Amino acid sequence: MVKTMGLFSIQSFLGLLILQSSLISADVKSDLETYIVHVEHPDGKVITNSEELEAWYHSFLNTITQSLEGELPRMVYTYRNVIKGFAAKLSTDEVKTLQDYEGFVHARPQRKLPLHTTHSPSFLGLHQNLGFWKDSNYGKGVIIGVLDTGILPSHPSFSDEGMPPPPAKWKGTCEFNFTACNNKLIGARYFTIGNGTPLDEGGHGTHTASTAAGNFVAGANSFGQANGTAVGIAPLAHLAIYKVCSGRDCSESDVLAAMDAAIEDGVDVLSLSLGFPSVPFAFDAVALGAYSAMQKGIFVSCSAMNNGPSYDTLSNEAPWILTVGASTIDRKLRATAVLGNKEEIDGEAIVQPNNFSQMLPLIYPGKTVTNPNAQFCTSGSLDIIDAKGKIILCEINEELLADMIKEVVKAAPAAIILMNQNSAGVTKLLAAIPWPTTQISYADGLRIKTYINSTSTPMATISFEGTVIGDAHAPIVASFSSRGPSLQSLGILKPDIIGPGVNILAAWPVSAEGNRNTKLTFAILSGTSMACPHLSGVAALLKSAHPDWSPAAIKSAIMTTADIVNLAHNPIEDQTLQPADVFATGAGHVNPSKANDPGLVYDIDPQDYIPYLCGLQYTDREVAIITQQKVNCSQVSSIPESQLNYPSFSVLFGEQVQTYSRTLTNVGDANSSYTVQISPPPGVHVSVKPDKLKFTEQKKKVTYEVTFRRLPSFGNYFRRLPSFGNSSFTQGFLVWTSGKYMVRSPIVAIMLD
Ligand SMILES: *[C@@H]1O[C@H](CO)[C@@H](O)[C@H](O)[C@H]1NC(C)=O
Ligand SMILES: *[C@@H]1O[C@H](CO)[C@@H](O)[C@H](O)[C@H]1NC(C)=O
Ligand SMILES: *[C@@H]1O[C@H](CO)[C@@H](O)[C@H](O)[C@H]1NC(C)=O
Ligand SMILES: *[C@@H]1O[C@H](CO)[C@@H](O)[C@H](O)[C@H]1NC(C)=O
Ligand SMILES: *[C@@H]1O[C@H](CO)[C@@H](O)[C@H](O)[C@H]1NC(C)=O
Ligand SMILES: *[C@@H]1O[C@H](CO)[C@@H](O)[C@H](O)[C@H]1NC(C)=O
Ligand SMILES: *[C@@H]1O[C@H](CO)[C@@H](O)[C@H](O)[C@H]1NC(C)=O
Repeated sequence: MVKTMGLFSIQSFLGLLILQSSLISADVKSDLETYIVHVEHPDGKVITNSEELEAWYHSFLNTITQSLEGELPRMVYTYRNVIKGFAAKLSTDEVKTLQDYEGFVHARPQRKLPLHTTHSPSFLGLHQNLGFWKDSNYGKGVIIGVLDTGILPSHPSFSDEGMPPPPAKWKGTCEFNFTACNNKLIGARYFTIGNGTPLDEGGHGTHTASTAAGNFVAGANSFGQANGTAVGIAPLAHLAIYKVCSGRDCSESDVLAAMDAAIEDGVDVLSLSLGFPSVPFAFDAVALGAYSAMQKGIFVSCSAMNNGPSYDTLSNEAPWILTVGASTIDRKLRATAVLGNKEEIDGEAIVQPNNFSQMLPLIYPGKTVTNPNAQFCTSGSLDIIDAKGKIILCEINEELLADMIKEVVKAAPAAIILMNQNSAGVTKLLAAIPWPTTQISYADGLRIKTYINSTSTPMATISFEGTVIGDAHAPIVASFSSRGPSLQSLGILKPDIIGPGVNILAAWPVSAEGNRNTKLTFAILSGTSMACPHLSGVAALLKSAHPDWSPAAIKSAIMTTADIVNLAHNPIEDQTLQPADVFATGAGHVNPSKANDPGLVYDIDPQDYIPYLCGLQYTDREVAIITQQKVNCSQVSSIPESQLNYPSFSVLFGEQVQTYSRTLTNVGDANSSYTVQISPPPGVHVSVKPDKLKFTEQKKKVTYEVTFRRLPSFGNYFRRLPSFGNSSFTQGFLVWTSGKYMVRSPIVAIMLD
């Protein structure tokens, strides 16, 4: 019953190599499980008095647990903002009894959620004393709430030098039992029962918080690599930490409780690098909490999850959430493999020795050893070929990596060339392996195998070249970044955006030697977990520059100005070095400076989600669970998903001709006129009425209609969506341009089988 919800980083660390995979933890075996219980007042009464609310919630438990005197309290959390209901420890029999109680709506056992730099700000065009960083005042006055594994408060990234005091509206607290909070770290709370401190033991939360809003720290590096000044995306924003995960385990009731508190505390942005694999919005703690947050003007940014490159692997798909995928930055930690035939192969490594230069014999155990896992250099595959002092080619298998390291330590090769699996392509998730290594792409691994086959005396060396900036292929979508389409709402294109999430340097609580008392420690991690806080930081900058923008307006600004080309001005590629599709990139790669001045935005009022949810065929009860309002869908004029005023289009054929309207709000020059340019998805005719839009004042709204007609030629162009039967898609875009602005929306046309 217990599914895992987790942190979205996928890094292995040091010799210890903590692997994230298969950390499935079940609740302690007992008859009682923590249930999320939704209730409603029988006569629709809205209770705002918190004592009255508590009494009402407790009345449900009192009826069933009276006979259990002397037991531990059954109530785990009472929720005030995120849902009408509570979390309680209950048996299945008790839940059955509760179902007959007036006001009971729904109960289900909670799930566990898996958890999903020096250079990324400048890669995003953020430079000190210049441009958008200066214009947005580095995020001054904005509070970013981070739900994660907690924080190491003494890290210099959380120094409050240069920080103003928190805004007057701030109501949060600091639950450390020593003086830990300051004007940077203005709040720190924990929602991890039995782990009574907001302190970060794992490191994930320290890393994500410093990425969103860490202060400037000079001389940050990992093993000397990626050296420079580390800083978050919004260096003058405040941080409020909500610890919801112990180790890599995050419980749903804790996540809901933390979001409940963050809403009251007064955060402006919520950053969640965690989430469930796709679940209906009514049963997804993050979607429920985010809905209430959005209603109160809080921007919610979440990671897309690390289950790519397959389609339909997203988490956090609700349209009121910004769903963030991961891509590379233009920094490489170069370690070139040089073969005996002078062929040079680009690789990367975090740990780079400075005394490595000899040509040495090169072997591939997968060729000579008969052990089925020999290509992964697991137990017994290196010692029998006498690897000592030689260079070994090994294929990466994340599950067997720890075993490989053990074998390497035993067999003592001079160096290892680590070759990606086919699915990883060129995406290199670097681990700080304490041995001379270089990690190479799958295709380059095949080149080395061909070379080994071609000669009786294969030789190689590794040339360690250090940190190099300027990879023109960047940004490349990471292989692991989860892909759309959205299983919960096919008519909304997801993910929304991609941002830096590969080999990101940020604050870390433990030094490379395992020392917890050193201060200046940083680590390189990869995951959509790392991409999400970059976007949370960008949202904070936009909120500081435009306090009156709604969460939907901020999202629109980020999406319609995103880059669709890489530094070499070619279409953004994926891990295969082919152009990435919209289910990988969403609207494209975030461009913060352009997002600050988008010209026009597609805004959404919170009430607009009700006809959208009814249109998605949620029951009245489910819509009420999400929106905390009584809704009768047969009295609401429900809309098809694609009609929501979203900054992108996902059109489902079905019906051969479909028309949707969109409303643009002018946030640019008062007097401006725009014309539409259309790049239709192949096989689809797209027409827009009117094709010119004129604005004469700011905040003015203008509506246009767009009609999509499937052509007989659709079948000549499409790409298959293997997970949706024989469904298929093509993609294009439409863009409104004035002389000054480009407001671009991606279009995907899906042909349902
Ligand atoms: C503070 O809390 C930690 C973790 O719960 C505990 O180990 C420590 O003893 C506490 N220190 C003080 C001074 O209360
Ligand atoms: C990092 O850069 C700083 C400033 O340029 C320099 O002083 C320091 O020695 C460098 N550290 C490493 C490990 O390269
Ligand atoms: C390189 O230096 C390291 C650390 O000083 C040492 O352990 C290793 O033996 C040296 N390797 C070579 C090939 O000289
Ligand atoms: C290398 O040779 C082996 C047989 O010895 C063969 O199975 C393998 O496919 C060859 N690899 C390449 C990349 O040519
Ligand atoms: C919802 O509205 C319909 C049509 O007006 C009505 O027949 C139905 O009873 C209503 N349902 C509820 C639960 O009020
Ligand atoms: C916009 O244009 C109108 C008429 O063309 C003019 O009256 C108005 O002053 C202009 N507004 C601005 C802010 O330039
Ligand atoms: C997809 O189409 C092929 C050929 O038309 C058919 O054999 C197959 O059963 C279809 N697959 C699904 C999942 O519908």
